Amino acid sequence: MKVVVIGTGYVGLVAGTCFAEAGNDVTCVDIDESKIARLKNGDPVIYEPGLETLIRKNIKAKRLGFTTQVKDAAGRADVIFLAVGTPTNDDGAANLSYLYKAAESVAPFMKSGSIVVNKCTAPVGTVFRIKEILSSKVGAGVNFEVASNPEFLKEGVAVQDFLYPDRVVIGVESTGAAKVLSELYKPFVRSGNPIHVMDVKSAELAKYACNCFLAVKISFINDMAFLCEKLGADISNVRTAMSTDRRIGKSFLYPGVGYGGSCFPKDVKALIKTSSEAGVELSVVRSAEKINIEQRKRFVEKIVAYFDGDVKGRVFAVWGLSFKPQTDDMREAPSITIIEELARRGAVIRATDPVAIENAGKTIRADVEYIEDYMQVLEGADALILLTEWSEYRNCEPALLNNNFKGRVVFDGRNIWEPADIVNAGYDYIGVGRNV
Ligand SMILES: NC(=O)c1ccc[n+]([C@@H]2O[C@H](COP(=O)([O-])OP(=O)(O)OC[C@H]3O[C@@H](n4cnc5c(N)ncnc54)[C@H](O)[C@@H]3O)[C@@H](O)[C@H]2O)c1
Repeated sequence: MKVVVIGTGYVGLVAGTCFAEAGNDVTCVDIDESKIARLKNGDPVIYEPGLETLIRKNIKAKRLGFTTQVKDAAGRADVIFLAVGTPTNDDGAANLSYLYKAAESVAPFMKSGSIVVNKCTAPVGTVFRIKEILSSKVGAGVNFEVASNPEFLKEGVAVQDFLYPDRVVIGVESTGAAKVLSELYKPFVRSGNPIHVMDVKSAELAKYACNCFLAVKISFINDMAFLCEKLGADISNVRTAMSTDRRIGKSFLYPGVGYGGSCFPKDVKALIKTSSEAGVELSVVRSAEKINIEQRKRFVEKIVAYFDGDVKGRVFAVWGLSFKPQTDDMREAPSITIIEELARRGAVIRATDPVAIENAGKTIRADVEYIEDYMQVLEGADALILLTEWSEYRNCEPALLNNNFKGRVVFDGRNIWEPADIVNAGYDYIGVGRNV
């Protein structure tokens, strides 16, 4: 199939590359010229495990191309995916201007019979608005269809998730479009995972429902952790009891400094906005957002309280900046607010991350000394703060810590270490909801 993907971010680039890997003829389009120039040379631009190899392989096989010229690409396409950003507006709603511009850009070049698929996370009704935009701009006599195909990949394992999805969701208006899109996804569901074909609005809402439910899970365990601190219980034990209940499950039930990233914070906001416009009070989702904001503040307060309310001049070594491991994505990372707040109170911040230092430097508005070597960061630090659970940090031996870290205390923002190991190594241990 001839596939065009508009937008080469985390979703568009991974989707385009994986469709090419499945044997399709794929062109990825972006308005960012420097990005396209790098992609043409096989440089993935973003850090995503396994992606570079697949891009290079498919460029070489001539199944994958990159261009800034939507005109050349859209006219050949059987299926056009829209995969541009839908960030948050000031009022919490999803900003759909990039998406609508992308739709406008393809419309004049579309051939009859093509299907325009929205892959972006966007509120119910967006696909029908896209249809109106396309209708007003397509060539005379050109017939087309629209569809919603929300993306569920996770950054850090995006390629794996795309190649082996739990399920594919397709929202369509006709069986013809369902057939074409099911055919396109067939190579990815050979192990029997389902393709759910449904109406367009349900597909659009399903994506928000999934992300918001996961955000609720995270905020629930974080609130429980806070309660543990007040009552003297230990969240690790509570979590173990909860997560071995098959009705609950263990994923997204890890206490920490809260969720971040390009999806959960914005999707939670957008669903709250959509629901209030519909006259529905989604109080569970609202609470999840509130708890998530408080969770970062609670962690900062714990750090400040440890130093008797004054962190001025204290040196903090921060391990981990990206919003989660295996990505260089800094969007809404908890590290931003935590570092900025400590710096605002006069703390000296030295920070490291395996891949996110460059993006952190562009995102965090504070004076931070960035250091590649995570052992070197510890030199002269009063405290170690762990904010992203990269495996090299998780596997760090307390003895190794001892050789480099002469400070007093370890703040474990992701509960990755055994408190006893840290205490035995001679440090105070402060995690999230743990009774040490
Ligand atoms: N990142 C994720 O983990 C993830 C997962 C599932 C769904 N989503 C959703 O997928 C969508 C895309 O997210 P992302 O993280 O890939 O975005 P991104 O910000 O990483 O990338 C968007 C890309 O679109 C390009 N672009 C913007 N306007 C364009 C236009 N008119 N024509 C061509 N290119 C254009 C930008 O230059 C950029 O390269 C969002 O709606 C997001 O909510 C993201």
